[in-house]
Amino acid sequence: MNAVGQPISRVDGRLKVTGGARYTADIPLQAIVHAAMVYSTIANGRVAAIDSTAAEDAPGVLVVLTYKNMPRMNQLAWSHLRPQGQTYLPLQDDRIYYSGQPIALVVAATLDQATHAGTLIKVAYESSSPAVFDRRTAKEDAVEPPQRMWPLSSSVGDADEAIARADVRIEQTYTLPDRHHNPMEPHVTLAVWDDAGTLTLYDSTQMVVGTRKLVSLVLGIAEDKINVVCEFLGGGFGGKSWSWPHTLLAAVAAKVVNRPVRLQLSRAQMYSMVGHQAATVQTIALGATRDGKLIGIRHDSVNPTSVFDDYVEYAAMVSRHLWRASGGIATSHKVVHVNRNSPVVLRAPMEAQGHFALESAMDELAYATGIDPVGLRLGNDTDTDPYSGRPFSTRALRECLTKGAARFGWDKRAPEPRSMRDGRYFIGQGVAAAIFTHWRWPGKARVTLNSDGSALVEAAAHDIGTGTYTVMAQVAADTLGLALDRVAVRLGDTRLPESHPAIGSSTVANATAAVMLAAKAAREKAMELALTGRDAPFAGAAPGDVIVGDGRLSLVRMNQNITYAELLARNELSNLVGDGNYDPVEEIKGLKAIFSFSAVFAEVRVDPELGLVRLNRFVGAYDAGRIINPKTARSQAIGGIIWGAGQALLEQSETDPASGQFINRNYSGYLVPTNADIPELDVLFVGGFDEEASPLGAKGLGELTAVSVAPAIANAVYHATGKRVRDLPITIEKLL
Ligand code: MOS
Repeated sequence: MNAVGQPISRVDGRLKVTGGARYTADIPLQAIVHAAMVYSTIANGRVAAIDSTAAEDAPGVLVVLTYKNMPRMNQLAWSHLRPQGQTYLPLQDDRIYYSGQPIALVVAATLDQATHAGTLIKVAYESSSPAVFDRRTAKEDAVEPPQRMWPLSSSVGDADEAIARADVRIEQTYTLPDRHHNPMEPHVTLAVWDDAGTLTLYDSTQMVVGTRKLVSLVLGIAEDKINVVCEFLGGGFGGKSWSWPHTLLAAVAAKVVNRPVRLQLSRAQMYSMVGHQAATVQTIALGATRDGKLIGIRHDSVNPTSVFDDYVEYAAMVSRHLWRASGGIATSHKVVHVNRNSPVVLRAPMEAQGHFALESAMDELAYATGIDPVGLRLGNDTDTDPYSGRPFSTRALRECLTKGAARFGWDKRAPEPRSMRDGRYFIGQGVAAAIFTHWRWPGKARVTLNSDGSALVEAAAHDIGTGTYTVMAQVAADTLGLALDRVAVRLGDTRLPESHPAIGSSTVANATAAVMLAAKAAREKAMELALTGRDAPFAGAAPGDVIVGDGRLSLVRMNQNITYAELLARNELSNLVGDGNYDPVEEIKGLKAIFSFSAVFAEVRVDPELGLVRLNRFVGAYDAGRIINPKTARSQAIGGIIWGAGQALLEQSETDPASGQFINRNYSGYLVPTNADIPELDVLFVGGFDEEASPLGAKGLGELTAVSVAPAIANAVYHATGKRVRDLPITIEKLL
């Protein structure tokens, strides 16, 4: 009967596989016209002259917008309270700060006409050589930016003193490349103004509510005159969690031409007109006793950012929280300003980069001390968050390590590098642990019980592809005592109750908690009617005696019941509405430190002549609290492991140092894993109900599963080959 805890298939699965799910670009709008962007081919300088007359005269063209005739927008300072992916606004002046920056927008009757007209625009530049990121000089070039989300540096105890007096020291630099999100669904905005001056944006976004707010501020439109809609996403991975210039351009263009406008980014444009993950250069120093007890950790990270924004990739954050170090832990973050667009979060921001450095260094410490890598980690486990001094709400990291090791068969591993073989291949086995930030965010939801006894769940939250429609239906069904197929869910529209974005792997714990509260409110109203309403069937009974199930209310121990449908009919009501307002204590003010945990185990085989790394098998053990739906959760884990395998072995966005341009700009130049790359993936959930994390007992899961895959693979590669690769991805040439 209970839907929660069951491996329920996606309620939107049929819609998706039959093409019934409308993704943003698929939405048909009457009389829509098409916009095409023209972008700069230089990375630093200014537009000296731009001539758009030929474009304006081209067939089908309605308008050509450049900085000369583009309506002005409101420049905002950066704030973490606003979801602005980049503060530099498009087509407002002649400056060029990055290659691929929009310099003109053509609106025409067809996309081909708009694209063709764009090629007729003549641009002359004044160009200077661009500042590009150089990992070799990153530390000298780095500056301390203003603080963003969290303190840039931290110090508990005296890490440097502890490391200096340690028996065993590891000090290494780990580098990770820029990466792009590359969701299958491109970014797209459809903008429509109605006669009353209301703007509706159909936008591929992880954040309808935030997009409305940002558009309101930048374009000076009241929030109640803006609707933002996104019912389905074809992947986002963080790239769609903030608003980007093209959404603003589409809104303005639609106003200028007084027609609905469709602006879809090409795959190549998605390498410069929306964010990416910044490269990091991370230095780790570990000091430990001879028996492998950490006494000091220092972790410093530098990342490139645009010249106009201080995006900080908080890679060293993980070292503040994961392991105990008796003498002290210090971390810092700096940035290098270069001519590129602003970076942004990418699944899993901070943690996936930081753990590569920390958990590679821990593996190096294991070899330096001669202690088994699993045992080394068990020996440095902690019940208390070293940074805040608060106890962890729940921390099943020990179970992740021990149960994961048992499932993997870690006890059969021969510890020496190059000691395990399968024919001509070297076999390597590696482990890495992870800690992942759990977010507590407010959200609202509404649950409506209909006269036919069905229910509707509504919230301006998102299903980014993870299964939100399904888990919300499960939670509402159980709370109301309805069958799952009697519950419908509507998401992704600012006209629905305000909720939080699909970021930080937070939706099950927070937005779905609001659904539970809303369903409870609706249930209580129904109980009230059953006790005191017209012709009340349970008159005189106590509220605590009423239970729900099978679409009806029943009196405990009595053979008396009434369906929701009958109850509403008897009271001449067309529906009953329950409102949910989940308002958790902010994490920072909580009594407990709340994080998710994992331990992951990789086995690789390496071809010694070719340097080719193949993944043989993988075990992931996760503590994400209570698992609401083991099937969608397992799908998250599989996706996360594959994502991490890409980080480990394939993904890198390359910058041409002369032009400052990202040069991959297509799936053909940016490798991601395919089915043939992925072996058996074994997934275990070892956590339990975490009452501090969420009323549902759940902690964040999705992005956790993408964390520590890369170090587990890198550690396995070291075990196989004796070669320590500290620079991702682990490509063939690094092993020859
Ligand atoms: Mo995720 S990178 O927090 O959308």
